[in-house]
Amino acid sequence: MPDLSAAHDAAVTDRARLAGSAYNGDRDLAARQSLYRWQTPRYDLPGLVAERLSAVRGRVVDIGCGNGTFLQRLRQDRPDLSLLGIDIAPGILAHVPGPVAVADATRLPLAAGSVDGALALHMLYHVPDIPQAVRELARVVTRDGVVVASTNSDRDKAELDELWRRAAGDVLGVDRGPARISLGSRFTLERAPALLGEEFSRVEVVELPATVTVRDPDPVIAHMASYRAWADQQDAPFDATIDRTRALVAEHISRHGAFEITSRAGVLVCRR
Ligand SMILES: C[S@@+](CC[C@H](N)C(=O)[O-])C[C@H]1O[C@@H](n2cnc3c(N)ncnc32)[C@H](O)[C@@H]1O
Repeated sequence: MPDLSAAHDAAVTDRARLAGSAYNGDRDLAARQSLYRWQTPRYDLPGLVAERLSAVRGRVVDIGCGNGTFLQRLRQDRPDLSLLGIDIAPGILAHVPGPVAVADATRLPLAAGSVDGALALHMLYHVPDIPQAVRELARVVTRDGVVVASTNSDRDKAELDELWRRAAGDVLGVDRGPARISLGSRFTLERAPALLGEEFSRVEVVELPATVTVRDPDPVIAHMASYRAWADQQDAPFDATIDRTRALVAEHISRHGAFEITSRAGVLVCRR
C-alpha cells in the first residue's frame, strides 16, 4: 500500500527540497532516466511524445522540463515549434538550451490560451495542489490544444521497492524493513485519468509495459541512490541500505544471470 500520509506528501512536494536538493542539478534525474537503457521493448519516450504533438503548430511549453530531454528532442524533430521550458528548480535549468523560465506549475506565467501544446512529464506528483496545476494546463492551452502528461503505474518497479525492504530489513536486523519513499504515488497512471478528466473531456492513456534487465548492479544502485534527497524520510539508514542492496543485487545476478525490473510507465494525451 503506497504511503499517502500528509508527511509523505509534504516531503515529495516540498519546494525547498525539490529545487535545493533533488533537482538542484541533473545527477539524480539522469540516473533514473538511464535505467531505461536496459528496457525491453525499448520505448523511445521523447519520440512518442513528439509524435503525439504531430498535429500541433506554434507554441509548446514543457512544464517541469528538468534537464531538457524532451525539449532537446522536440528542437531536433520539430524545428517549426516555438518551445519554452519551465521548472521550479533553477539548478536543473542551467544547461538546458533555449528559452527557459523558473516558475511553478500551479501559477504559470502564461496568458490564457497562449500555447498550442503543453507537456507535464513525470512531474505532477511533485505538485502540492495537483487539481490547480491541471487547471493551469487547461487555462494556458488553446481550445483545440493538446496536453501530454506522463507518469508511472503503482506497479512500476515493484522489485526495487521489495529490494529496498529486504536490504533495510537486513540493516535493521528485522525480517522485512520499512518501505522506501514513493515519489509517484500521488499521481499514478491509475489515478491520473480522473485528475486530468476534471478539465479535459478526452484523456487517452498509452501504456508502456516493459521489463528492465540488468546484468550489473551499478544502474540499479544509481537509481536507488537517486532518492538521496529524501534520505531523511527513510526509516532505515540510507547509505547502509544502499550498500546492502548492492550486495543483494550482485548475489541475485551471480545466481540467475540478471536482475529484472517491471517497468510500467504511461503517457496521457488530453484534449478538451
Ligand atoms: C522527475 S523530474 C521530470 C523531468 C522531465 N519532465 C522528464 O520527464 O524527464 C520532475 C521535474 O519537475 C520539476 N517540478 C517539481 N515541482 C514543480 C512545480 N510545482 N512546478 C514546476 N516544476 C516542478 C522538478 O524540479 C523536476 O525538474
